[in-house]
Amino acid sequence: MKKINPTAYQRIVFFTGAGMSAESGVPTYRGAGGIWRAYDFAEYACQEAFERNPEKVLRFHELRRQAVLDCQPHAGHRVIAGMPEAFVVTQNIDGMHQRAGSEGVIELHGSLWRLRCERCGAAREDYGRKYETLRCECGHWLRPAITWFGDMLDEAVMRKASEIIDSCDLFIGIGTSGTVWPAAGFPELAWQAGAHCIEINPEPSGEACYHQSIRGKAGSVLPELFAAEQ
Ligand code: APR
Repeated sequence: MKKINPTAYQRIVFFTGAGMSAESGVPTYRGAGGIWRAYDFAEYACQEAFERNPEKVLRFHELRRQAVLDCQPHAGHRVIAGMPEAFVVTQNIDGMHQRAGSEGVIELHGSLWRLRCERCGAAREDYGRKYETLRCECGHWLRPAITWFGDMLDEAVMRKASEIIDSCDLFIGIGTSGTVWPAAGFPELAWQAGAHCIEINPEPSGEACYHQSIRGKAGSVLPELFAAEQ
């Protein structure tokens, strides 16, 4: 595998999906063992489900928080965190990049560790295994600050991610099936911006444009790819 010297690039973007956390033990969404095979998103991950039964939806997310807290970041997360000048744009809501030490992570689909009130607009961070409270101070249910099926993405977050990707010269897409839009369009955006585009995924993904596809796992490929040349 040809190694990458990060100092040869002005702006590096790591674009990650559920496969980035797979070796940590966090299940992916699609494929074998995927969350959407075991759980119907219409029952747990859309606004209608929350309006029907907020407590059921919150308890589901609480279980996901517990599962994530039982997992640890792996060597691939640490390689990325070891390049503080690089940008991390993730579809993941698990906070694993941050636990490995990455800062300024752009979370396209929100976070398991944030809640918001749709009545009074309050927002709160909550990092425990169990939610501190399911209710806002105003009495309304708190909603996980996550982009569910049918939700719009946060426009400001999307704009920031697009601007960064539009001006990168190395784009590394890791562990995403490339099926969920608009994030699935980011590899093409990077390609059109003239960046060198690399994919790390044991399986072929979507129809994304990459100059190079490395068929391997994030936790072993990343340390090898960025190992200093002897
Ligand atoms: N290393 C790298 N890639 C891996 C690994 C690994 N160890 N294990 C699995 N993968 C790949 C799979 O081959 C697959 O292509 O990770 C990808 C995971 O795809 P998805 O489960 O579809 O995850 P993602 O692309 O992040 O999903 C996008 O869908 O439901 C929504 O909001 C949710 O953010 C999520 C979005």
